[in-house]
Amino acid sequence: MQKAKGATERIIEILDQPLEEGQVGIETDISNLPITIDSVSFAYSEEEPVIEGVSLDAQPGQMVAFVGPSGGGKTTMFGLIERFYEPTKGEIRIGNTPIQKLSLTSWRNQIGYVSQESAMMAGTIRENLYYGLENGDQIPDGRLWEVAKMAYADQFIADFPKGLDTEVGERGVKLSGGQRQRIAIARAFLRDPKILMMDEATASLDSQSEGIVQQALTRLMDGRTTFVIAHRLSTIVNADKIVFIEKGRVTGIGTHQELIQTHDLYREFAQQQLA
Ligand SMILES: Nc1ncnc2c1ncn2[C@@H]1O[C@H](COP(=O)(O)OP(=O)(O)OP(=O)(O)O)[C@@H](O)[C@H]1O
Ligand SMILES: [Mg+2]
Repeated sequence: MQKAKGATERIIEILDQPLEEGQVGIETDISNLPITIDSVSFAYSEEEPVIEGVSLDAQPGQMVAFVGPSGGGKTTMFGLIERFYEPTKGEIRIGNTPIQKLSLTSWRNQIGYVSQESAMMAGTIRENLYYGLENGDQIPDGRLWEVAKMAYADQFIADFPKGLDTEVGERGVKLSGGQRQRIAIARAFLRDPKILMMDEATASLDSQSEGIVQQALTRLMDGRTTFVIAHRLSTIVNADKIVFIEKGRVTGIGTHQELIQTHDLYREFAQQQLA
């Protein structure tokens, strides 16, 4: 009773929060539009800015990797693109439209977030796939198998006697790290986002599993503009553009080869942190 009371109070507090601003705005398809981050600064509080004058762009379909020391501002940049925060200066545009002009729903529905340390909810594989989608429970099995296949997850799901209805998590089967990641990738395929935000796992899988996950991700990124917080050299080498962020500023933009030649800290980083 005591525990439930505490939790309920907290839930009611959240339900009582006013709606986020920016719910209304332009509804528009953002496929094939470049993203421009234009002199963006941001501070969490009155104190020192955490992001200062960051400018970069991502052309449709490009992969842009954020790299740099801890506390540099990579996650904060993700938060700004996802509109969890608003820049204090500058703006982020999709095509010619500042993203703040779009309705929040329209923007968020077209952005996919894949964390490779993806947690599964208690429930079935099916529920884990459609989680968060309106009328998700009405998505036909055929479509769910299709996205599972694209994520190379169909085989192990089919191997469970209950297939899509297999319970996972505490009460059900324990999925391996690689299986969880592929379900997270299948989940992203189901949403078909135009922009992909990817937070790369720091812990690595065994090399066979890693290979399959990598293949699934490559397929997911195909044709989508992707921002990745990268921890792996293999990802970075494939990036169209690497953005080195330190202390809230961009100190280098280029391909791996370019930065290796021109950016001392990047070279050190690539040798030590990423290798
Ligand atoms: N919610 C927050 N409120 C106040 N300050 C924050 C908040 N989140 C991050 N910061 C500060 O902003 C700065 C940038 O943090 P951020 O999380 O963006 O770095 P990062 O590059 O993602 O680091 P890491 O590689 O460790 O994940 C840090 O100084 C951090 O302490
Ligand atoms: Mg971070």
